Amino acid sequence: MLKNFKLYVEEDYSTMSQRAAEVFANAVKDDPMGAYGFATGSTPIGMYEALIKLQNNGKADLRKITAFNLDEYYPIQPDDPQSYYYFMRQNLFDAISLSPENTHIPNGAALDPIAECKVYDEKIASAGGINMQVLGIGTNGHIGFNEPAENLPATTAYMPLTESTIADNARNFASPDEVPRNSLTMGMHSIMMAKRILFLASGENKAEILQNAFNGPITTMVPASFLQLHHDVTIVVDKAAAKLL
Ligand code: F6R
Repeated sequence: MLKNFKLYVEEDYSTMSQRAAEVFANAVKDDPMGAYGFATGSTPIGMYEALIKLQNNGKADLRKITAFNLDEYYPIQPDDPQSYYYFMRQNLFDAISLSPENTHIPNGAALDPIAECKVYDEKIASAGGINMQVLGIGTNGHIGFNEPAENLPATTAYMPLTESTIADNARNFASPDEVPRNSLTMGMHSIMMAKRILFLASGENKAEILQNAFNGPITTMVPASFLQLHHDVTIVVDKAAAKLL
């Protein structure tokens, strides 16, 4: 494991989520009005629940942050319960009273997805960059929706999803046919520019890809492997995910 990583291996999903929430809340304490990057998916849900509790107990205050999400399906309407916009309002933003003006998610309903990518990059730049970016990892090594490929995008991009991600994410839809085939995702440079990365993974099905990403070669075929080049990565995992590290 590289020295620039701070690794927390926690007993289970619940303690992992608690630890991640504490790391995040400490970053917000240092910069309460900064910009923070969020991820969706099943992994960060427990951390979001823990953050809500910390705020309700007066131990954290997230009400003044600006939020940027990594990605969104395309095409999708924001009010679709499968949209990441909806996910974030349900799982975090409403409960921490973060107003919609302070939350940004690529617009999956934009008529011109490529123009939307540019707009999104400009918003991140005008917020002064991201202080801490929360990341999960796909079983194929993707971060955001930067899927394994010969080339990876630098800035926010309109990207197709791979068959493996469509299959993984189908669990949240009535059938695989309903999973949108494309996405808008922050690119690798946008992610790497975050001052700090808070990386989460849980469960045995992530053990092998974690080993490849953090101990294997840096390759576009495992996009998360580029995190080996980031100077400030905090990895919070449960024992099952850390099995091969
Ligand atoms: C979601 C995202 C994805 C997920 C990844 C893992 O915003 O960026 O990269 O982090 O697909 O998803 P889960 O947590 O559902 O295993």
